[in-house]
Amino acid sequence: MRSVSLSRFLIDEQWQKHAIPSDLRLLVEVVARAIKAISINVGKGALAGVLGDAGSGNVQGEAQKKLDVIANEILLEANEWGGHLAAMASEEMEGPHAIPHRFPKGEYLLLFDPLDGSSNIDVNVSVGTIFSVLRCPEGVDPTSEQAFLQPGTAQVCAGFAVFGPSTVLVLTMGQGVHAFTLDREVGSFVLTREDIRIPEDTKEFAINMSNQRHWESPVQRYIGELLAGKSGPRGTDFNMRWVASMVADVYRILTRGGIFMYPRDTKEPGKAGRLRLMYEANPMAMIIEQAGGGATTGRERILDVQPTALHQRIAVYLGSKNEVDRVTGYHQG
Ligand code: F6P
Repeated sequence: MRSVSLSRFLIDEQWQKHAIPSDLRLLVEVVARAIKAISINVGKGALAGVLGDAGSGNVQGEAQKKLDVIANEILLEANEWGGHLAAMASEEMEGPHAIPHRFPKGEYLLLFDPLDGSSNIDVNVSVGTIFSVLRCPEGVDPTSEQAFLQPGTAQVCAGFAVFGPSTVLVLTMGQGVHAFTLDREVGSFVLTREDIRIPEDTKEFAINMSNQRHWESPVQRYIGELLAGKSGPRGTDFNMRWVASMVADVYRILTRGGIFMYPRDTKEPGKAGRLRLMYEANPMAMIIEQAGGGATTGRERILDVQPTALHQRIAVYLGSKNEVDRVTGYHQG
């Protein structure tokens, strides 16, 4: 079978299927190129001196790793000059990043978490990059936070990469979800999974159990039932996995089903969850829904949430549809 590169796939999407315009194709190509560069840096690890803390903090008060900073710089630099973007925003920067005056501008807004799961960097466990693409609304300053505050339903493209044993790029442009594996010798992404579908049922869940005492009652009930196994109300045993890199947990769900949860809890009542809506929950929710899964805050569909701040946090339940529906139902009941 002839292999299909990401470039070939995108050209087909543009010319055969008329599914994407040329500037969106260019945008995805550029993001994928940046992801390759990040993958190379992650892969070198201690050899390149890229492990450890950067000695700085981000806007959310989290200590930055050297690779957080490197990945952020790679994405900014790669996407500044192509003429496809109006502005960018990142987990690592307080406000939107303007495209420098000397470069042409485009109509898209790019948001990213440059290195998700960064607590896993130094211990050599999978990390990744998450991104989301919006159109800049007409008449709005693209460098204002306002331009970015659009619900997830407005995303035109979302994707993430996992830097694991292999580097995999998962992509949706609103017509299904596809995965590409980086051929390290050739230096290009090759289509390895087309039209991914998530099984509606699962016996595997992912949650940070150490927060159990802080959860709200619907989550206590749901997890309690799963843990009770065969002798409990569900009548079956469930298995648990928690990589602590959302990219890896979500990729597993795209591969064999499962439910991923990061509920809001009472540990820090001021925080409505841990994960960030704009560049973590929204792109993952679009991908999961496009693959036939569900994605809610427990109370509503993630993609319908009207954002109020660039770095807003949100509760996340996503994955196999029937389990997401069940835990969401417990919140409503
Ligand atoms: O900040 C995001 C993140 O690193 C996710 O990738 C991951 O799912 C989660 O946080 C891990 O949280 P915890 O440290 O509570 O296990």
